Amino acid sequence: MAGSLAAPRRSRAPRPGGGSASRRGIGDTGFVFTLLLDDDCHLRLYERSDAEPLHEVIAANREMLAEWMPWACEQTLEQTRAFIDSSRGRFADDDGFDAAIVHRGAIAGGIGFARMDRANRSASMGYWLARPSQGRGIVTRATSALLDHAFGAWELNRIEIRAGTGNARSRAVPERLGFTQEGVLRESERVGDRWVDHAVYSMLAREWSQRRG
Ligand SMILES: CC(C)(COP(=O)(O)OP(=O)(O)OC[C@H]1O[C@@H](n2cnc3c(N)ncnc32)[C@H](O)[C@@H]1OP(=O)(O)O)[C@@H](O)C(=O)NCCC(=O)NCCS
Repeated sequence: MAGSLAAPRRSRAPRPGGGSASRRGIGDTGFVFTLLLDDDCHLRLYERSDAEPLHEVIAANREMLAEWMPWACEQTLEQTRAFIDSSRGRFADDDGFDAAIVHRGAIAGGIGFARMDRANRSASMGYWLARPSQGRGIVTRATSALLDHAFGAWELNRIEIRAGTGNARSRAVPERLGFTQEGVLRESERVGDRWVDHAVYSMLAREWSQRRG
C-alpha cells in the first residue's frame, strides 16, 4: 500500500457516533478523523503535507526513539512520506490506522493500531512522543481514547501492547490503564545490534467496560 492512496470509503471508516469515543469528539468525513483529548491536544490522521514536520520531529528525537523503535534509526523523508501514504491507505481499507498526536498545534508524536485481526476482533497498539511533550499523560490519555474507540465503534474484543522489557516509560502506559501482563516474548525484535525482549500486555472489552464503569 505504501506509495499510493486508496480511495476513501466512508462506510468502512470509523463512524461518527460509534461507541463511547464519540463523546470525546470523533468526526469522520471520508478521510478526516479527529479525536479531541483536551484543549491542548488532539489525534488526527496524517496528511501528506505532514511529511516534513513529522520527519523533523522524528529527526529531533531520533536517539530516544531509535533505542526502542527500529524504524526511527535512519528514516529518510521519502520513507516518512511512504509511511503516511501507507497509513492513509490502511485507514481507507479499514485496516487500522496511525494518528498524529498534535500538542499545542504541532505534531508531537504518533499512536496507532497494527496487526488488525478482524476474525478474532483484536489489534495491537503502538505509540511514541517527542521528549518536550512527555510527562503530561498525553499518551496515556490518547491510548485510553483509542481503546474507547476500538471497543466501541469497532467492537474489538482484545487490544495488545508490546513493550521492551527495559522500556519502563512504555510499560507504564498499559500498566497505568490496568492492562494484564501476559508474558514475555524473548528476543522478539532486533533493534540496532541488540535483541529486545517484549512484555506483552492485553486489555479485553469486558475489562475495559468494567473499568469505565
Ligand atoms: C513511551 C512514551 C510514549 C511514554 O511517554 P510518557 O510521556 O511517559 O507517557 P504519557 O504521555 O502517558 O505520560 C505519563 C507521564 O506523565 C505523568 N502524568 C501527568 N499527568 C498525567 C495524567 N493526567 N495521566 C497520566 N499520567 C500523567 C505521569 O506521571 C508520567 O510521568 P512519570 O513517568 O514521570 O511518572 C515515550 O517515553 C516514548 O516516546 N518513548 C520512545 C518510544 C517508545 O519507546 N515507544 C513505545 C514502543 S513500545
